[in-house]
Amino acid sequence: MQDLSLHILDIAENSISASAKRIEIRIEEDQIKDLLTVEIKDDGKGMDEQTLKKAIDPFFTTRTTREVGLGLSLLAQAAQQADGKVELSSAPGGGTTVKAIFRLSHPDCKPAGDIHETIRTLIAGNPHIEFLYEHKRNDSTYRFDTREINRK
Ligand SMILES: Nc1ncnc2c1ncn2[C@@H]1O[C@H](COP(=O)(O)OP(=O)(O)OP(=O)(O)O)[C@@H](O)[C@H]1O
Ligand SMILES: [Mg+2]
Repeated sequence: MQDLSLHILDIAENSISASAKRIEIRIEEDQIKDLLTVEIKDDGKGMDEQTLKKAIDPFFTTRTTREVGLGLSLLAQAAQQADGKVELSSAPGGGTTVKAIFRLSHPDCKPAGDIHETIRTLIAGNPHIEFLYEHKRNDSTYRFDTREINRK
């Protein structure tokens, strides 16, 4: 995957498969700490401890259509190449949070890509799921929440 927007789309697909009703996507660029953080949080079915332990392994999937599951392992690889890592937290019935951390100035840190297009695609394809998109760059924050739109 060439850029982060495609990883985000892919990780959000996991949330959709897990029957999430709300997906929160947060990106934070902190030039002082030299960190780029991408967080995708859902309220889907979550994972038990066993599944969680294996989730990043490329040869693990609960899909029944094929035998590899690459989404999380590719994200972990992208983060590691930029001196970062992926943190997962999940509990059965308690949703899942995927947090990928990158060193912003690292030459192998992938470009963001067209994140707005990714968000548009997700919203258009999943009208029954709420999406929050938040992008912090140093001191400024952009925030978009379909829950607030729907209320109007
Ligand atoms: N948000 C999530 N909620 C619940 N389970 C998840 C979530 N994300 C990942 N998983 C579990 O971790 C496994 C591995 O995820 P991963 O994205 O790496 O592969 P995949 O979705 O199975 O296949 P691929 O991404 O290649 O289409 C999934 O099969 C699923 O069991
Ligand atoms: Mg996946």
